[in-house]
Amino acid sequence: MNHPPLAKSGPKGPWVMLTAYDALMAREAEQGGADLLLVGDSLGKAVLGYDDEKEVMLSDMIHHSQAVMRGVRNIPVVADLPYGTYDNLEVALDSSRQLMALGVNMVKLECDLPHIISHLNAHDIPVMAHLGYTPQTAAKEGSKVVGNEIDSAELLLQESLSVEKAGAVALVLEMVPREVAASIAHILAIPVIGIGSGPDVDGQVLVTTDMWGESDVSFKFLKKFGQISQAKRDAVEAYSAEVRQRTYPADENSFHIKKKFLSTWLNQHPY
Ligand code: KIV
Repeated sequence: MNHPPLAKSGPKGPWVMLTAYDALMAREAEQGGADLLLVGDSLGKAVLGYDDEKEVMLSDMIHHSQAVMRGVRNIPVVADLPYGTYDNLEVALDSSRQLMALGVNMVKLECDLPHIISHLNAHDIPVMAHLGYTPQTAAKEGSKVVGNEIDSAELLLQESLSVEKAGAVALVLEMVPREVAASIAHILAIPVIGIGSGPDVDGQVLVTTDMWGESDVSFKFLKKFGQISQAKRDAVEAYSAEVRQRTYPADENSFHIKKKFLSTWLNQHPY
């Protein structure tokens, strides 16, 4: 494997993981102190304007993972296998190899698929598993919380043990009750990274555009740590106003013809 298994806790405490979709986001997240980047298929809805994760193609993931790899310096990068790209062993291996060839450190796949995970491991491809709410296949309507009854919580625990046994190097748990996520994190030896799964796990991940206030979504579990969208709109408004008032560009933002040619030019081409 080209990346050692992830430790149970991150370099400075719980793992801080964020999604990144291009070089700029990768650089900003890394410089801001993230430990781990995810080129998530959330990119479809977050930045590509798709309605559904299912629309994300492997070619989208390749394009954006390449951009992230150009921006990242020292932290590991995980790339999502999008919907339909790991339906069987052969397809999963081919898709994963295409992503790993870009230099990403591991791939992530949704659901309890131990045969796929162990097949990828056998070909030196580290896998992060994703359980709980799994956007690629979950019903879009109704409750998204997974494991809030004994049977579903037990099933989730069994699935978590299954992906760990198959060789997953880490597990993302999405929208799992705090107590259930905490028990699973306590039982598993691999790090459990939560999204909407409470604080008692080994790390947290958020979709960066949600986290820094660029998207207009709101979920119970989401805290917006910035107002980037507002800051961008403010900048566009200020720019528009200055362009319309001709106060931008000012002379200090302008280039000039060489002094010795100025009068000749103005005599020939007054304005
Ligand atoms: O695609 C994604 O961004 C994800 C995270 C929400 C974990 O899978």
